Amino acid sequence: MAELNEAVGALGLAAQQTALLRGALTSGFLAHCADEVSVEDLARVTRLSPGRVRDLCAALRAAEVLASDNPGRYRLSDTYAPLLQHGTDVQIANQLAGAAVQAQLLEKLFTTDGPDRYGDLPDPDRAALAAGVTLAPSTALARGLMSQLLEATPQWQELLTGDDVRYLELGCGLSGGLLTMLQLHPRVTAVGVDLAGDLLDRARVQAATLGVADRVRYVHADAAAFSDPEPFDVVFWSQFFFPAASRVKTLSNAYDRLRPGGLLVTPVLLTGPDTPQAALNVALFRSWDIPVLTAEELGTELGTAGFTAPAVHPGPSGTLVVARRP
Ligand SMILES: C[S@@+](CC[C@H](N)C(=O)[O-])C[C@H]1O[C@@H](n2cnc3c(N)ncnc32)[C@H](O)[C@@H]1O
Repeated sequence: MAELNEAVGALGLAAQQTALLRGALTSGFLAHCADEVSVEDLARVTRLSPGRVRDLCAALRAAEVLASDNPGRYRLSDTYAPLLQHGTDVQIANQLAGAAVQAQLLEKLFTTDGPDRYGDLPDPDRAALAAGVTLAPSTALARGLMSQLLEATPQWQELLTGDDVRYLELGCGLSGGLLTMLQLHPRVTAVGVDLAGDLLDRARVQAATLGVADRVRYVHADAAAFSDPEPFDVVFWSQFFFPAASRVKTLSNAYDRLRPGGLLVTPVLLTGPDTPQAALNVALFRSWDIPVLTAEELGTELGTAGFTAPAVHPGPSGTLVVARRP
């Protein structure tokens, strides 16, 4: 019984501390803790009462987010200090918000109806989920991660550095990756296609904020049906949001949209199939009829669709499979 209590207590504590961190990030509370700050000063800038701030600081310290070297004064702990560099706080707040939505969906896996399909989720939940799996494109962190990803995938990088490169993303969602890539490669123009109009609206606003709106067009359409008179050099396919029934037609369309020699790039959901996170992803995505494929299985799927030389590229923020239209 003691062991059970300990195990369940640890789970409950992790959930509560996650919520605490999420609140501390999204409210901007933590942004004031880069350097040592007093409870009174924190109360002034956050407009919370000193008593509440004291309690929150104590709870954040117990969670090892904050450290305290002097009474009544707090700073980010050494572990959490990188949060305030390169926009990492924005990225992590998005990931935690996405995880909170995913947690609610996981609970509903035990009902016979299962969780809502991705397309049927309330808009804010879908947006949170989408933001949790993409890059926050306004951040230096995103630009750094995208640079590393491109360096780890030389054939992709090489194509993007040419003149008048045309780039298509099928299932672009909020298009964080696409918008980050456009900032790094000023000669690329892009089209993003998605079934979720609400995400495209948000993506358009973000594109304008980032100053790349003149180089990206968003199309509210089924990826299997999208057409364009001009061929593309690259098609990025966000495959792990595509249910089984849509995949053959989508891949066939991706093939048709590419020029001969063009590149299909697609991310893998699973990096380590035996991790607890992978098991949760499998349970949720399979409930949406999405096959959770290894890189090798994805390569086979691309081969069946006519693409050649599928290559697996493990990168800093996940694994990509890249193949060519012959
Ligand atoms: C979450 S996004 C992927 C993230 C994206 N790579 C980024 O950087 O933001 C995946 C999207 O695929 C879209 N999707 C799934 N099936 C689709 C289809 N048949 N046609 C168009 N979009 C589809 C979903 O609506 C979802 O928004």
